[in-house]
Amino acid sequence: MTAMTTDAHPGPLRVLVFGASLRTDSVNARLASLVARLFAEADAETDLAGMGDFEMPLYNGDVELDQGLPQGALELRDRIERCDGFVISSPEYNASVPGVLKNAIDWVSRVRPQPFKDKNAMLVSASPSLVGGNRGLWALRVPLEHLGTRVYPDMFSLANAYQGFTDGGHLSDAVLQQRLSETVTSFLRLVEADVRYVVLQRRWYEFLADCTDAPITQRAQD
Ligand SMILES: Cc1cc2nc3c(=O)[nH]c(=O)nc-3n(C[C@H](O)[C@H](O)[C@H](O)COP(=O)(O)O)c2cc1C
Repeated sequence: MTAMTTDAHPGPLRVLVFGASLRTDSVNARLASLVARLFAEADAETDLAGMGDFEMPLYNGDVELDQGLPQGALELRDRIERCDGFVISSPEYNASVPGVLKNAIDWVSRVRPQPFKDKNAMLVSASPSLVGGNRGLWALRVPLEHLGTRVYPDMFSLANAYQGFTDGGHLSDAVLQQRLSETVTSFLRLVEADVRYVVLQRRWYEFLADCTDAPITQRAQD
């Protein structure tokens, strides 16, 4: 089988790493910084962002109708569009996705073309609990996959996160540090393959808001 090339940009791969907490001393911001550093060491161009960079009100259809999309949502859209793949480091709230993150996804999902579609994403979490916020990541897969994001199968969750980092920002546990490093590298390889060569062709996906008059069989993607 011959590989199909794409018209992807020729420069280094661009990865957005997004810490999804508003808290000043966020452990997810710390994990996001570490992941960004690992991407930079692998020669990717890294864009580190935090939830606080994107101010937006609670989603309200009336506000959208009257005022359009808030500036913060458009800025997040721009950052997602510029990247070849993105990572979200998210807290787990009540075994699920924090409201602020879901709110941001909801706003950005209103932009057309819808920017989450066909992007590769990796999910990581940090929490003081023993499961490291992993249940929240399973919940986070649902809206992202609904929107057509290719969510990387491997995830990384740091348990006991308040004790989990060295002063230098690495993980205190060398085995976990190695595992995170390998997960980041594997994800980057997949992004490279998918961006430079089409490795995953979807003929159809279920994003019902992708309204088109075309018959369903013509909704194929190249
Ligand atoms: C409303 C709320 C719900 C929470 N629920 C969970 C939970 O289900 N599982 C968990 O591991 N931690 C939970 N936590 C604790 C967070 O993991 C902890 O506050 C963590 O520091 C948040 O991430 P951050 O430091 O990046 O802000 C919860 C915290 C809040 C405020």
